[in-house]
Amino acid sequence: MTPANHDLLRNPVKVWDPFVRIFHWSLVGCVLLNQFVLEAGETAHQWAGYIACALVLARVAWGFVGSRHARFADFFPTPGRLSAHLKAVRQGRHPQYLGHNPVAALMMLGLMLLILLLGGSGWLQGTDAFFGEEWLMELHEVLANGLLLAAGLHAAAALVMGRLERVGLVRAMITGVKQSY
Ligand code: HEM
Ligand code: HEM
Repeated sequence: MTPANHDLLRNPVKVWDPFVRIFHWSLVGCVLLNQFVLEAGETAHQWAGYIACALVLARVAWGFVGSRHARFADFFPTPGRLSAHLKAVRQGRHPQYLGHNPVAALMMLGLMLLILLLGGSGWLQGTDAFFGEEWLMELHEVLANGLLLAAGLHAAAALVMGRLERVGLVRAMITGVKQSY
């Protein structure tokens, strides 16, 4: 989360540990499979959904014990961090961060929450008490559409912010290394 001056990222800095990177791309895989490939509601869909939830829960644990920039303490979007970031953006500056920028972190927490809610609403549909409930299917569908929209914004923001900050953010999520260009 530390705002870095451009000198700091002139040399490559290792920021994302393997857990964070494997978590991220596995999560993307599960969500895309459930949105576009697997039959809605079938066993494989349920498995992919539960794996996504397990990944999110493991990531929450990693947020307490993981490497420096993986920790919530490093990037949790507190009001202070958010307002400092928004102030910089209003002044036309795009500070670089070694870890997550606070607005992006807010979106990431939202994405993870949506995935847990999808798991919960999916699971409930298979229980005796809620089997066949129309409103639950609709809720699951609305959450899935919300996730798709939010993930699209998130991916677009990663590309745009990377350009503005002059850092390969997407590349860093693959290699683990951030560097100015
Ligand atoms: C990452 C998590 C998940 C995503 C992104 C997701 C996404 C979706 C999508 C896009 C649909 C089709 C909705 C429609 O247009 O009707 C659907 C349907 C369904 N999903 Fe999931 N799902 C997830 C997790 C789960 C889990 C964990 C379960 C059950 C254990 C589940 C059970 C169902 C069922 C039964 C349907 C068919 C009924 C309905 O439309 O609600 N899903 N899901
Ligand atoms: C279903 C789709 C997606 C979901 C649910 C998702 C979720 C997340 C989450 C939870 C994080 C936080 C990572 C962590 O600290 O462990 C994250 C970070 C990130 N994601 Fe995604 N993501 C998705 C798609 C994408 C795509 C398609 C791209 C590439 C264009 C992307 C690029 C990034 C980048 C660059 C970061 C790190 C941003 C930074 O440097 O602060 N994501 N994503």
